[in-house]
Amino acid sequence: MMYKPLVLERDDSLRKRLFGETVMTHPAKMNLHQLCHYLTIFHVRGGFLLDPFGGSGTAMLAAGAQYGMYVATVDLAPHFVEMQRRAWDTFSRSFEMLDSDRCGDYLAIQGDSRALGATLASLDGYDEDTFADLIITSPPYADAFSGQSRGKSIVAAAACGTTGKSVVSRHSQFNQPNRYDANHNNIGNLKGTDYLQSMAQVWRECAHVLRHGGYLICVTRDCVRDQAIVPIGKQNHDLIVSAGLSFVRCDDWQIPQQSFWRILYSKKFPDAPTISTEQVWIFRKQVA
Ligand SMILES: C[S@@+](CC[C@H](N)C(=O)[O-])C[C@H]1O[C@@H](n2cnc3c(N)ncnc32)[C@H](O)[C@@H]1O
Repeated sequence: MMYKPLVLERDDSLRKRLFGETVMTHPAKMNLHQLCHYLTIFHVRGGFLLDPFGGSGTAMLAAGAQYGMYVATVDLAPHFVEMQRRAWDTFSRSFEMLDSDRCGDYLAIQGDSRALGATLASLDGYDEDTFADLIITSPPYADAFSGQSRGKSIVAAAACGTTGKSVVSRHSQFNQPNRYDANHNNIGNLKGTDYLQSMAQVWRECAHVLRHGGYLICVTRDCVRDQAIVPIGKQNHDLIVSAGLSFVRCDDWQIPQQSFWRILYSKKFPDAPTISTEQVWIFRKQVA
């Protein structure tokens, strides 16, 4: 049989309808349809879903909306945590649109996921070995577009969640940020071994708080740097396996269209490879 990747469907209108315009401004959101595809298979009703890189809160929103899980997200950037809280307010006002009995609850926490256990320890009833029934996340990636002009690098940096202290005013915080300071705790700012060491630390923490038999799902998209592919997905796969989780499978998802910046990049460097799929990596913590 011919191998066919799954195809990503645009989720903009659903996302806006349920959660409002502000979530659209996070530059590296997981796809809601893709997320629901995996939640349909892996959700644990009444269980805890954790996203250590919460961003706009896609995992929280999708799970809360449809799968009756309790959701905890962690993100380093306070304005993304605030974005999630606003989205939740919008979403909870539209509970009637859904089956409200089935909706879960959520908690958006500001913190550094390299110290996930310590961050979660302050929660009532926290038990480090059984906290998460399921982890779904998409990690930041290091310096993905370096080699481009400054303007493009800034937008790309935003795609890595590189927000630093960029917020210029209260009103502009949900618009495209226009200036970034270095924030050395933001993993999206790190390169080479610094990036890999930080990600290794996060995956070790995740492996620790995931209950035995629970799944970790990691969404990655490789990137092109200096006209060569950076295998973000495989690098993170290796780190997750080193953290002690067993690899289950990897699904390829066809990207429906290249981003504006990608198209510009291809015009400038026609021989550079293009990325046409993203990967969803599934791992499991062994049953005790
Ligand atoms: C690829 S985005 C996640 C997007 C999210 N899955 C969504 O659907 O909106 C990566 C996120 O990691 C966050 N981040 C970067 N370094 C972090 C750290 N050390 N601890 C926690 N979050 C961090 C960034 O602020 C960014 O929002």
